[in-house]
Amino acid sequence: MKISVIGCGYLGAVHASSLAKLGHDVVGIDIDQAKIDLLSSAQAPFYEPGLPELLSETLTAGTLTFTTDMSLARGASVHFIAVGTPQQEDSNAVDLRAVESAFEGIVAHLSPGDVVVGKSTVPVGTAERLAEGIEAVGAHLAWNPEFLREGYAVKDTISPDRLVYGVRPGDDHSVAMLDKVYARALAHDTPRVITDFATSELVKVAANAFLATKISFINAMAEVAEVTGADVTQLADAIGYDARIGRRFLNAGLGFGGGCLPKDIRGFMARASELGAGDALNFLGEVDAINLRRRERMVDLCREVLGGTITGAKIAVLGLAFKPDSDDVRDSPALDVAARLAELGGHVRATDPQAIETSRRLRPELDYVATVEEAARDADVVLVLTEWREYRDINPVVLKSVVSVRAILDGRNCLNPVQWREAGWTYRALGRP
Ligand code: UDX
Repeated sequence: MKISVIGCGYLGAVHASSLAKLGHDVVGIDIDQAKIDLLSSAQAPFYEPGLPELLSETLTAGTLTFTTDMSLARGASVHFIAVGTPQQEDSNAVDLRAVESAFEGIVAHLSPGDVVVGKSTVPVGTAERLAEGIEAVGAHLAWNPEFLREGYAVKDTISPDRLVYGVRPGDDHSVAMLDKVYARALAHDTPRVITDFATSELVKVAANAFLATKISFINAMAEVAEVTGADVTQLADAIGYDARIGRRFLNAGLGFGGGCLPKDIRGFMARASELGAGDALNFLGEVDAINLRRRERMVDLCREVLGGTITGAKIAVLGLAFKPDSDDVRDSPALDVAARLAELGGHVRATDPQAIETSRRLRPELDYVATVEEAARDADVVLVLTEWREYRDINPVVLKSVVSVRAILDGRNCLNPVQWREAGWTYRALGRP
């Protein structure tokens, strides 16, 4: 199929190259010339395992091209809208300007029978509002939310765990076209839910709200564990054996960040309030608050281990990305904690395998170093804030010769306390004795 993908950020770049890999003829379109230049030379503008190889393969095969010229969408029969929907600067609501301008831009290039497919995460009611302009030119609108996780984006796009199509009742044409797009996943029995616009929009924010709630639930248990001497990781293991609960997304620690979970729960609350259903989502305000409290607790723990004062202490921060295998620092708990410690007068030296450049753009004032050894040299305390494999694998015996004081704070419950204590370290973690 000939397909256009409008918006070549995280979602769009991965979607465009994955569809090209599946054999479609894809044009990726974005207003950012620098991004298009990078993508056209098979370079990903962000760190995502497998994406550069996928770009290179599909660009060379000629099944993928990138452009800033919207008119090149003409002739494609399916047009995916994959632009960003960030949080508004002065409120919890979602900023829909990019979505609106993508829809305005594509309309002039549509032919009757084309299907415009929204992939961006939008407040419920957006599709219904945008459908009129698309249908006026004889094209169709569908909403097809995306559930990809950073770090697994290519795999999640090529082999999704479910497909959701939000369409007008009886719009068999859009369903048939999307079935052609996703023929390979459907041949592998991927579940497919066909529903209306509103449900498809809600599916995405509901899924992220559930995941955020699960993380904040276990972090709330961590708070209680901290005042009782209990161990939240053992608690998570024990409740996780109950198949109805499940162990995944029950890792207590610094909490969630990134470009999706925080802004999606806030946007969801804002939209529900507009619709008069704000009370239904009041609990998400608590989910957000529990999440943010973990960062404060980490700073408090650091102060405690330093004997009551952060000012002047040499603090090594390992990990800045919001999670491993990503260079994304949007709303990153790790970068936030590093910045707070520096603001409190700590001499913070921070490192990350991928996220130094992205961190520097947001927090130019911090001191960044390339390696664990440089960060930890003469440190009074070492903080692990993102659970990268190389940090989980650090040998405490080797690291102890580098630091000034053997104190390790495990912000992600990703280290083995026994091993660290046996090597002579003071080991402290969130939610553990
Ligand atoms: C999320 C959703 O998982 C994905 O389906 C959606 O499409 C986009 O948002 P992503 O933002 O890539 O994906 O990250 P995810 O793996 O969900 O992690 C989000 C945050 O939660 C990270 O900061 C992570 O460190 C944290 N987390 C995750 C925990 O603190 N504990 C856990 O048990 C799991």
